[in-house]
This record gives sequence, structure tokens and C-alpha cells, in this order.
Amino acid sequence: MRFDPWNPDFVAHPYGVYADLRREAPVSFFEPTGQWLVARHADVNALLRDRRLGRAYLHVATHEEFGKEPEPEFQEPFWRVIRAGMLDVEPPVHTRLRRLVSRAFTPRMVESLRPRVRAIAEGLVDAYVEKGGGDLIAEVAEPLPVTVIAEMLGIPDADRHLLRPWSADICGMYELNPSEQAQHTAVRAASEFAAYLKELARERGRRPGDDLISALAAIDELTEDELVGTCVLLLNAGHEATVNVTGNGWWSLFRNPGELARLRADRGLLPTAVEELMRWDTPLQMFERWVLEDIEVGGVAIPRGVEVALLFGSANRDPEVFDDPDRLDVGRADNPHISFGAGIHFCLGAPLARIELIESFGALLDRAPKLELRREPAWKPGYVIRGLESLDLSVS
Ligand code: HEM
Repeated sequence: MRFDPWNPDFVAHPYGVYADLRREAPVSFFEPTGQWLVARHADVNALLRDRRLGRAYLHVATHEEFGKEPEPEFQEPFWRVIRAGMLDVEPPVHTRLRRLVSRAFTPRMVESLRPRVRAIAEGLVDAYVEKGGGDLIAEVAEPLPVTVIAEMLGIPDADRHLLRPWSADICGMYELNPSEQAQHTAVRAASEFAAYLKELARERGRRPGDDLISALAAIDELTEDELVGTCVLLLNAGHEATVNVTGNGWWSLFRNPGELARLRADRGLLPTAVEELMRWDTPLQMFERWVLEDIEVGGVAIPRGVEVALLFGSANRDPEVFDDPDRLDVGRADNPHISFGAGIHFCLGAPLARIELIESFGALLDRAPKLELRREPAWKPGYVIRGLESLDLSVS
């Protein structure tokens, strides 16, 4: 098999292909997307920190200079939202936006949420056990991070069901070469989401509550677009990957019953287990960067104006960095995985994600000691954001 992000077999089993790439073609041109694939940990890690690359290029060049067509007119509402969030801008705008929200996500602030995260996790797991199991993704993996981030921002209970479909539709645009239909779906979702948040932020501006949207609405230096872009980013990034780590993580444990037994026997391993599950089956397989100045990677010259695709899933199995990388080891002590990124865009929500994952895995281990797989799960078609359709389990 070769690198083929549209092939379901590759999406299900990318790691053998990555091993070949790391050995034989660690920096290789991928014709279908016109990107350079980067497979080794050292290169991925270095490029994420290299300021000669960026998530965006419009701050230093025009579409024309980069040989790109301007985006079609119909996509304007999508890019308006996305390019107003910190993930799609570079300094100095990035620095300003990240500073404004980072106060809410310091390890100390986030640690104060732990009792609430635990209570939500336990409530969801109790209801799941009561029903004798079912789809772990729909019943536990999704509602936990969605509830946590929605409560932080102050999204009313009655509207929470809107978040997951909007996010999923927007994320469709992040897959490689999205179809026309996926593009239109993403644009519509971004417009609806933006209109909803504008209305809510105006309301919170008039009558502030004890939530992040009210706090952001009170900041004069934040434009309305930036406020909306920030909230969309927090709400989407705040749950997408966490859902997939929970699903992929349990599926990994079922495929490695010895490691599941080891974790059951010693809950003290939970923090290292969560890191290892993120490494072993990486939820976000790839992130892209634009090359803003000519660079050289592993002896290959890459000119300004092209895009590199950093293969996180491959970096996380690199034998140069991880002993016995294909082995799942829930006690792995030295684990510099790259699943939260690196450099200036390093995941702002990493401390929160870690708490959510430790609490949800912990609640399931404690309250559902006889958890069994009913059938082998299927992967969703997406490669970049990689997760299971469902995970059907029984609890006895
Ligand atoms: C296990 C779950 C998560 C994973 C694997 C993950 C992964 C990542 C990665 C890889 C990036 C950097 C992307 C890049 O450099 O191109 C990122 C950025 C980001 N993440 Fe997460 N994330 C997770 C959970 C969360 C949560 C719970 C939040 C909550 C708010 C969050 C908020 C963000 C934000 C705001 C950024 C943009 C940071 C910036 O541009 O400076 N993430 N995440």
C-alpha cells in the first residue's frame, strides 16, 4: 500500500506505510495535493517550531505570489470565521489573540474544573452502564468534551445539540481536496454558527454572565469577527480530537488486552496511558504548513510558496525517538509525542484535554469493570481528523 488518504484501507492501517516513508522517502512530493510529505519525528518537530513556515501566508504574500487562485467567492463566510481565530493567523495577530484567551486555559484554571469534569464523566458513565452499554462515542466520548467546553463558553443547554453537527461540517473542509459538496456544507455551517454566536455575544454584552463569551464580549480590542472566530475555534477544537482520542483509545486497549488489564490493575498508570493512547493511534494525523522562505528538510530543498504536510501519526511511531514504537505501553515514561503539536500553535487546550481523558477513562475503568467489544468498529472516511464511526460495547 502507498500513502493514499482517500483509501479506507489506508485510513484504517496507515502505520506500515509511514514506516516505509520514514525509511525510504522521509521527505517526498505527493502529486495529488501538491504537498511535500514529512514523515520523521525530528523533521516534523523542527518544522512546527520553524518561523520560516506558517499556518497562513496572507500576512506575507498574496495568493498570486504563492501561485494560488483566490478562494471562490462562495467560501467567503467560511474563511471569514476561520481566519479570525488564532489557529489560522500568525504573529503579531496570533500573539494578541492567544494572549487574550490563554488566561482561561492555564493549568491552574483548568485544574479548578476537574471536579465538574469528573461529575459529568461519572454521570455519563453511570447512564451508559445502566443501559448495559451501547455506542461509547455517542453516549460518553462526545457529550463529555462538548458539555465541558459549552459550559465554559456559556452556550445554553438547549442549544448544545447544534455544536457537534456544525463542527463536523466545518471540519469537512480540513480533509485533503474536499469535494464541492463538502465545501458548501462547511460554508453553510460556518455561516449559521457565526450568526448564532454573534447574537449570543451581543446578548452577553448587554447582560454578562460568568462565562467566557461574556468575558470576551467585554474586551474592546477584540473585533466581532475575532470574537466569533475565537468561539468557533474553542468550541470545535475543544471537542473534536478529544472525542476521537476516547474512541480510538478504547479501541486500542481492546486490541491490546494485556495493556488494558495492566491499566485496570494500576490506575496510577492513567496519566501515562492517556499520553500513550494519543501517540499510538494519533487522532489528528496530519497538519499543514506553508513555506514562507526557502528551506531544506532532510537534504531536500523546498521553495517558498509550497505546502508541507506534517505526518503526526508517522512522527509518533518513529523508532529514532520511541523504543519499540509499534508496541502500546500504557506505562511508557519517556513519551515526547507530537499529538498536541509544537511551537507557537501548540494546543491551547492540552491541559483541559488531559483532564477530560483521565477522568473519562478513569470513570469507565471504575464503574464499568466488565466492558466488552460487541463488534469491530469502522473508521470514518476522514484521514486528517481520524476517528471511529461508533464503538459498540456491552457492560455486564
Ligand atoms: C486530545 C485532544 C486534543 C488534541 C489531540 C489537540 C491537538 C491540537 C493540535 C495538534 C493543535 C495545533 C495544530 C497546528 O499546529 O497546526 C491544536 C491547537 C489548538 N487546540 Fe487542541 N487538541 C486537543 C484538545 C483541545 C481542547 C480540549 C481545546 C480546548 C479549548 C483545544 C484548543 C485548541 C486551540 C485553541 C488551538 C489553537 C492554538 C493556537 O493556534 O495557538 N484543543 N490542538
